[in-house]
Amino acid sequence: MNEESNIKATKEAMSKAYVPYSNYPVGVLIITDKGNKFTGCNVENASYPLGNCAEASAIAAMVMGGERKINQIYVMTKNDEGGIPCGGCRQRIREFSDSTTQIIMCSPDGIQNRMNLSELLPQSFGPEHL
Ligand code: THU
Repeated sequence: MNEESNIKATKEAMSKAYVPYSNYPVGVLIITDKGNKFTGCNVENASYPLGNCAEASAIAAMVMGGERKINQIYVMTKNDEGGIPCGGCRQRIREFSDSTTQIIMCSPDGIQNRMNLSELLPQSFGPEHL
């Protein structure tokens, strides 16, 4: 298992967060179905609603890398319970996932919790409904 290096890469992504307003850094690492890795951090803005979540940044990097399927997504914040994706980001993850996609919630100390997307976003709406 590469978990230790994944946690390290997620922490490094978190260290890049631009969070002068919330002081709540978030780092994300996506591992795709092809085994490739993409990272992202939250990027805030003086016009508060324009800020981007870390998940959105990592998903954009993944799509720019030509990939479309998330196998695992690590989400790290500085608190003890680990990073919990907001409702909007659960839907963002849903777009590029299936029910077995794992959300791995981390604190700087390591993995605190793991859930499938179907647990975080049950009976969800997705591309196949259109
Ligand atoms: N944030 C994320 O980056 N991802 C989430 O899933 C939860 C919230 C960011 C947005 C904002 O920059 C800060 O955390 C506080 O809400």
